[in-house]
Amino acid sequence: MEPERLQQMAQPLLDWYDKNARVLPWRSQPTPYRVLVSEIMLQQTRVDAVKPYFARFMEALPDLESLAAAPEQTLLKLWEGLGYYNRVRNLQKAAQMVVREYGGVLPRDPEELKKLPGIGDYCAGSISSIAYNVPCPAVDGNVLRVITRLTGDFSDIASPATKKAITAAVKQIIPARAGDFNQALMELGALVCLPNGAPLCGQCPLAGICMAREQDLTSQIPVKAPKAARKQEEKTVFLLLCQGNVALVQRPEKGLLAGLWEFPSCPGRLKKAEALSRLREWGFEPKEVEKLPGSRHIFTHLEWLMAGYLVRLEQPPQKTDFLWVSLREALEQYPIPSAYQLYRQRLEKEEKQDG
Ligand code: ADE
Repeated sequence: MEPERLQQMAQPLLDWYDKNARVLPWRSQPTPYRVLVSEIMLQQTRVDAVKPYFARFMEALPDLESLAAAPEQTLLKLWEGLGYYNRVRNLQKAAQMVVREYGGVLPRDPEELKKLPGIGDYCAGSISSIAYNVPCPAVDGNVLRVITRLTGDFSDIASPATKKAITAAVKQIIPARAGDFNQALMELGALVCLPNGAPLCGQCPLAGICMAREQDLTSQIPVKAPKAARKQEEKTVFLLLCQGNVALVQRPEKGLLAGLWEFPSCPGRLKKAEALSRLREWGFEPKEVEKLPGSRHIFTHLEWLMAGYLVRLEQPPQKTDFLWVSLREALEQYPIPSAYQLYRQRLEKEEKQDG
């Protein structure tokens, strides 16, 4: 790492940030609670996607105490569509710990913050610097890209060793405006030093000191080792409709999408005849079975390939493990993960027609 080159970046970066920073709700009022919630949301989700969730979350749960006391289903509903639902469960556990053990005041020391569930190096650094201006680094993917390009570094940014080295280097050069500096680095990565396609070097305040630009290496840096292939899972999803109600099932308490609600499903992408016999095995005699478009959803380590059927039933089933709720209730009260977006939209259409 080249400390001189890094030393030179702070001031031009801050000047650029002062003129170009996006106006974001958690920036205009960076209270520790708002910073905590926004940073957890932003960990795996884009800024534009987070904005409406953040506003809704703050309205429903305006402070640490209300978050600590909220029912789990309320939390999951507020998070519906954001994905990585353990983030919100951990966020609540963190809030409960802060209320219990820190007198309701979010710690300012990143080492203390790291003791809270769901808060790792990056979040501890971002929260501590943005909320309290503590001079600590916050190195995310954007920052890794900016720094490796700036210094012409071919290290694999997917490797923890690279992250460690860059975190240590950034730590050496944090200026007095620590929170702004960290956010400026992220902002430059998000708006100028772009990940896919050519970066906008013409707009970059660091173009004059950037090694990758000087040596024409921006298409080669950052280096990122490919991940292992994702596992694929096939499944068939049933929208079972009966007298204005739809069947839901709750996912297990542990594992993927824990505790969220979904439409009944079974393994494999079934053809219509197979779907029909599965329905009969479940004890249903459908009035109508409509094949829906297939759908695909990508998780971090897993991909779902789905077939779907809309099934109209005349008789309410005698006995099932499913929960039958009105279409409106299903849509408004139950957190249903985005993996089912396509089928959820069909349900919305049905609900509009019925209602
Ligand atoms: N990504 C993570 N934290 C962020 C922040 N505070 N501003 C913009 N993007 C971010």
